[in-house]
Amino acid sequence: MKTALITGASSGIGWATALLLSKQGFRLVICGRRQNKLQALSEALETPHQILTFDVRKRQEVFDAIERLEAPFNTIDLLVNNAGNAHGLDPAHEASLDDWEAMIDGNVKGLLYVTKALLPQMIARKNGQIINVGSIAGKEAYPKGNVYCASKAAVDRFTEGLRLDCNPFGIRVGAIHPGLVATEFSEVRFKGDQPRAASVYAKLQALTAADVAQAIAYMVAAPAHVTIADLTILPTDQASAYVVNRNT
Ligand SMILES: NC(=O)c1ccc[n+]([C@@H]2O[C@H](COP(=O)([O-])OP(=O)(O)OC[C@H]3O[C@@H](n4cnc5c(N)ncnc54)[C@H](OP(=O)(O)O)[C@@H]3O)[C@@H](O)[C@H]2O)c1
Repeated sequence: MKTALITGASSGIGWATALLLSKQGFRLVICGRRQNKLQALSEALETPHQILTFDVRKRQEVFDAIERLEAPFNTIDLLVNNAGNAHGLDPAHEASLDDWEAMIDGNVKGLLYVTKALLPQMIARKNGQIINVGSIAGKEAYPKGNVYCASKAAVDRFTEGLRLDCNPFGIRVGAIHPGLVATEFSEVRFKGDQPRAASVYAKLQALTAADVAQAIAYMVAAPAHVTIADLTILPTDQASAYVVNRNT
């Protein structure tokens, strides 16, 4: 049985990916900060799993948590670097520096810490797969997206660099870049303002977290000699980071 570690499994895309990979027979390490949510997910999983709570922004917490894993959960075949969020949607001159730091620390530095904690074992085994969850926002900026877009562009470029460095070791490295997915994402971005969050997904058919999980599972299920390096997945109602058809 293979083991997958999924960050941000307490909600949205990470949760749906955990459910699907469990159905497909993966042993899981499910990560997030909210223990109660991970406990709820745990009840729905069909395969052996372990809950790991840590804040990806806290470097020592990340390394300590991963070090605490015991066999067989400490041999990670698949890392899904999914934890992340947007904070705020404001023009650069009005945006909060705290929001900017939260995005750089979580979406970029957090992803780097988790990768750094798990990569040595994959290199030693010459085996493994890393899937980073980027965003269409990392491919093109949208108005007021400034630092969120920059953080996801960093994920995109880091994925490419990591793939180059892992090339001699047979490790598969790829990224998935979703468009609009109806999750808690916008509620977090707008700091609990539910009507504003709901308006993001109004009058269009957004992706579901399960849609993205299916695509991640496709990247995972490809034969060992096949790397899906870069996969952009959009709702049909969305044509780019900021062109959305809300007329249907
Ligand atoms: N929804 C979209 O439209 C969309 C589009 C493109 C890309 N994405 C990306 O997809 C990924 C998942 O987002 P989602 O849509 O599923 O949103 P979500 O429902 O808000 O889930 C975000 C997940 O990330 C975890 N997380 C956030 N900050 C964390 C931190 N500092 N430490 C540890 N875990 C943290 C959260 O867990 P805790 O709160 O329990 O820590 C939660 O499980 C993110 O990287 C996001 O940028 C989303």
